[in-house]
Amino acid sequence: MNDEVTFWPSGRSVKVKPGTTLLDAARRAGVPIATRCGGKAACFMCKVAVRPESMLQPIADIERRKLAGLDENHIRLACQAKAAGKVVVDVPLDPLRAAVARQLAKQAEEDDLW
Ligand code: FES
Repeated sequence: MNDEVTFWPSGRSVKVKPGTTLLDAARRAGVPIATRCGGKAACFMCKVAVRPESMLQPIADIERRKLAGLDENHIRLACQAKAAGKVVVDVPLDPLRAAVARQLAKQAEEDDLW
């Protein structure tokens, strides 16, 4: 267990064996990442942003095809990307929470105007 995966914004970290997927690491760390296909690179719901300094195993063809270039912007599928050292992952807000946060920010902005 030499590899370590850290998830933001929670800041939770977990030690993992080399080759552990980021999705498995997230589950072990208690960090929720949405999935629908059970980790088969089919649903595209487990997208995460991996910080550039992260050490991952080379991307597989199935993931590269699925991401269609997003991997160049450090977006990866958590169910396919595998740790190969220290990894730092930014997990996006789930869409419902993001919508609520946007609405609350908009309301607060409007309240400031009055
Ligand atoms: S869990 Fe479905 S694409 Fe990763």
